Amino acid sequence: MGEKALVRRRKEPKWLQAAKARDGVVEGGDFLSRALSRAGVLPLNEAERAIREGRVSVNGKVATVVVAPLDEGARIEVDGERVDVSPSTRVLAFHKPKGLVVDGRDREGIGTVFERLHQLLPTELKGYGWLAVGRLDRDTTGLLFFTNDERFVAHATDPETKLPKRYVATVSGRISDAKLEKLRTGVELEDFSTLPAKAERRGLHDVALTLTEGKFHQVKRMLGAVGLATLELHREAVGEYVIDVPIDSIRLLTDEEVERLLGYRPRHLG
Ligand code: URA
Repeated sequence: MGEKALVRRRKEPKWLQAAKARDGVVEGGDFLSRALSRAGVLPLNEAERAIREGRVSVNGKVATVVVAPLDEGARIEVDGERVDVSPSTRVLAFHKPKGLVVDGRDREGIGTVFERLHQLLPTELKGYGWLAVGRLDRDTTGLLFFTNDERFVAHATDPETKLPKRYVATVSGRISDAKLEKLRTGVELEDFSTLPAKAERRGLHDVALTLTEGKFHQVKRMLGAVGLATLELHREAVGEYVIDVPIDSIRLLTDEEVERLLGYRPRHLG
C-alpha cells in the first residue's frame, strides 16, 4: 500500500471505518446493486434479484451484472421507471432502551442498536447504510440518531457546531446550588476541562444537563466530579428536537425538521 493511501486511511474516523466494514462499502464508487440499495430504492438482495431478472437498465441498456461499476450521472430505470440513485440525507430518531450497545458487535450478546434498528426499519428504509450519530452507554436510554450521511454525523458530533444535547440524570447525593454552579462553569476531569454547560435541578433527584460536547462517559464523569453518582441517564433532546417517539421505536425526520431543529441542510449524496 502506498504512503498516500496509508495517510488517507489514518485520517478516516473510527466510526466511519466501522460503518464501512459493517455495510461492505466498496471504496471508489458504488456498484449497481449497492447504489440501488444505498439510495433506498431496493434492499440489496432485491436489487440483485431485479438485476438478474433483467428489470434494471442503465443508460437504456438492460443491466445484467450485479456488481457493474456505475458511472456518475447514469440514467437508471427499474421496471421501466426512472429512479434516483443519489440518496439524500436521511435522519432517524431512535428511542434507545437500556441494554443495547452502540457498536457493531456485542460481546455480551444482549444486542446492538444496529440489530434492533434493522428489526424496526420498514422495508423502504432497510436498504440504506445507517450510521449511529454519536454514542450512548449501554445503560443510557433516550435519543439516538441514525443517518446515511456522514457529514450529518460530523455536524451533530463536532463540538464546533455547538449542537446542544440535553440529558436528564437521576442521581444519589444532594443536588446543591454550588454543585449546579460548578457543572455550569466547567469541571476538571483527569483528561480535560469541560466547557460551560447548562445545569438545572428537576425535582429532588434529577439533574438536567445540556452539553455541546460529548466525550466518553462525560455526563456521568461530570456529575461524579461534583459528588453526584448517576443512577439513571436519559438523553431527551438534541438541538431543538425533543424525543417524541415511544421507547424502542423509530421515526424518520422530515427534511424540514432536520434543517429547523438540527441546523443541517439535507443534501443529495452521490
Ligand atoms: N454521557 C454519559 O456519561 N453517558 C452517555 O451515555 C452519554 C453521555
